[in-house]
Amino acid sequence: MRAKFSGRIIGCGMSVPEKVLTNFDLEKIVETSDEWITERTGIKERHILRDDEVISTFAIEASKEALNEANLQPEDINLIITATLTPDFLMPSLAILIQNGIGAGRAGAFDLSATCSGFLYALILADQIVKNNPDWHILVVGAEALSRKTNWEDRTTCVLFGDGAGAVVVGGDPSGEKGVIDFILGADGSNWQLLTLKGGGSAYFPFDERLPKDEHYIKMQGREVFKIATRMMEKIALELLERNGLKANDLSLVIPHQANLRIIEYLRERLDLPKEKVFVNIDRYGNTSAASIPIALYEARKQGRIKDGDLLLLVAFGGGFTFAGLLMRW
Ligand code: COA
Repeated sequence: MRAKFSGRIIGCGMSVPEKVLTNFDLEKIVETSDEWITERTGIKERHILRDDEVISTFAIEASKEALNEANLQPEDINLIITATLTPDFLMPSLAILIQNGIGAGRAGAFDLSATCSGFLYALILADQIVKNNPDWHILVVGAEALSRKTNWEDRTTCVLFGDGAGAVVVGGDPSGEKGVIDFILGADGSNWQLLTLKGGGSAYFPFDERLPKDEHYIKMQGREVFKIATRMMEKIALELLERNGLKANDLSLVIPHQANLRIIEYLRERLDLPKEKVFVNIDRYGNTSAASIPIALYEARKQGRIKDGDLLLLVAFGGGFTFAGLLMRW
């Protein structure tokens, strides 16, 4: 039986660096082409940090906007959860920098590491906490600076990623009619070697010569990851629909993690949905990992594609592997 209170999103924000790197810019860095990137990924351009910028600046901007939309003051926030695999520092966490940056003096704050599914993991956690504490307000942020972990000599990965931040405020809905309806959280570590970022962890010392230089960057066996991603995205979506007695057509909008347009298109075809029911903005941002869904959610709202009472499906997949899906009444 559903709890009386559920967590609903009451404010959204986003912020991305101004600097844009187009496919044509990338043609000058590695042996690639706009045509190859567009055809294989759907990406045309991505925002990336300037050398003197840090992602916390954008996470703070996005958080302030979400707070503003929720009509809340920083002191009204009880908890900040930041999904990221590229915080400014390992210590303090990005969530702490956000807490300080927005002046949320009463809030607890921590980072959560679940790669591209991180934002949904964090949102699910926030919903569960709000169910028990209906007067709480939880700031959930997805923020990534993947350009800092990108090997600009590796054409198989450097064309894929972008930087940015998205944020939402989760609050209780006393009617229990809006907010999270159901969710799936999952992980499968059996293929973890297919997508890694080893540098910066504690397996190696700083400047450890045992670690090859390219392991300081994201490494991926794209073709294998692609196969698993398509399978998992479909499985999660179908399972959530089935166990809630829904048909894909009941959904108002699907917001998938933006990793590759072909993965999104595969999902859309499996659900037999028209293009307007599946949100896509990968062409302008690339894969921003944990930031991709909150940025997409923000843009979908600004474009008027989410209305009161709409039924949304959010679905993500990422390194690890992690996966997550969430059904929500707006
Ligand atoms: N420009 C031009 N050619 C490129 C290239 C680039 N940027 N990157 C790879 N190629 C080449 C390869 O070297 C290969 O050449 P070969 O056939 O001579 O060996 C060819 O293009 C095909 O490579 P392949 O890796 O099979 O391409 P693909 O169709 O699988 O597309 C990805 C590559 C990375 C776009 C795709 O595998 C993918 O999106 N994977 C999943 C990514 C993902 O979702 N990651 C994050 C999870 S959240």
